[in-house]
Amino acid sequence: MHFELTEEHEMIRQAARDFAQTELLPGVIERDDQQKFPAAQVKKMGELGFMGMMVDPQYGGGGMDTVSYVLAMEEISKIDASASVAMSVNNSLVCWGIEKYGTEEQKQKYLVPLAKGEIIGAFCLSEPEAGSDATSQKTTAIDKGDHYLLNGTKNWITNGNSASVYLVIAQTDVDKAHRGINCLIVEKSMEGFVVGKKEDKMGIRGSDTHSLMFTDVKVPKENRLGEDGFGFKFAMQVLSGGRIGIAAQALGIASGAYELALKYAKERKTFGKPIGEHQAIGFKLADMATEIEAARLLCLKAAWLKDNKMNFDQASAMAKLYASTVAMKVTTEAVQVHGGYGYVKEYHVERLMRDAKITQIYEGTSEIQKIVISRGILRD
Ligand code: CAA
Repeated sequence: MHFELTEEHEMIRQAARDFAQTELLPGVIERDDQQKFPAAQVKKMGELGFMGMMVDPQYGGGGMDTVSYVLAMEEISKIDASASVAMSVNNSLVCWGIEKYGTEEQKQKYLVPLAKGEIIGAFCLSEPEAGSDATSQKTTAIDKGDHYLLNGTKNWITNGNSASVYLVIAQTDVDKAHRGINCLIVEKSMEGFVVGKKEDKMGIRGSDTHSLMFTDVKVPKENRLGEDGFGFKFAMQVLSGGRIGIAAQALGIASGAYELALKYAKERKTFGKPIGEHQAIGFKLADMATEIEAARLLCLKAAWLKDNKMNFDQASAMAKLYASTVAMKVTTEAVQVHGGYGYVKEYHVERLMRDAKITQIYEGTSEIQKIVISRGILRD
């Protein structure tokens, strides 16, 4: 076992770090304030290959491994978690889902532009009454021979308005419960599809989160992903991979806040010395650094398992559970280290603290991760 990154990994990390500093940092406070989606920045991320990092180059992707993806997600999330959630959903839910289960036609039509970052995708599972209990889908996709008739509402959809392609989970045969659920590729331009209200959120305010309404949308049969009835398992599998991305996002939010707190602790003086030299602050920094390192190792282990084609369901749930807890704790402490300055926008840590909270909620709450982990432990 060795813990060193390859030269290529280091280069990817540096490229993501440079991009975040030069392209995402300017304006991040204003975008948060005005709830402005970083459209131009996400477009550039596509041009640089960050939107389809793990996709095979034959489908327009970067052909990189999941470890590279974790490294890039951490760097981008340190600066702008609204940009990184768009990146995460596109990479690990939408691109990975289509690459793994799509037909050749679906890959050529949808995966290629998604992986190149020419268009963005969204993943639509949550509903007003189906969040954690994802089998309780009320959205229906009724089989009409050559097409499905899609009706229903989805809630809290990341990239809700910016996306062009949506993976929509819906119930086809209610008698078959979760085995009667399908995943359909829906285009924004399809008749009967309306983007609903934008959520006014506590954090990741630059991310555009919407409800979506489908009224008699005719989705061609060839747009179904996988076999009939595979939709729920499809959702579970892509979410398992997606949790590595969100764990890396939480890690980035934590390490971004930690780096700011460390810098401040070296510069700010009280009682005649830098505050970091007071044990009260030094011990906080020690805890933050240790917990971040542990979260990073969990993220990298989950990524390594996925890259080596081993089961990563428990590992990704553990990484997400732990990294999101660390994100909440570290960002709160980073505000504390900054004192009054931490409570105002220009020092960034208050935004990171608000952004951290969502990592304990989306792609499965912390409680859901504990269900996945405990079921795995009891089964083994
Ligand atoms: N891979 C493959 N199949 C899986 C699976 C996995 N990881 N996990 C479960 N399944 C299968 C099971 O084997 C079972 O299949 P069979 O009946 O054929 O054996 C089937 O799925 C049902 O599994 P469970 O009985 O375990 O299902 P459950 O109802 O008990 O729910 C759950 C399990 C873990 C709680 C699940 O509902 C869940 O993960 N909920 C959270 C949903 C979630 O994460 N939502 C996030 C929305 S997306 C988002 O946030 C994106 C964004 O915008 C950032």
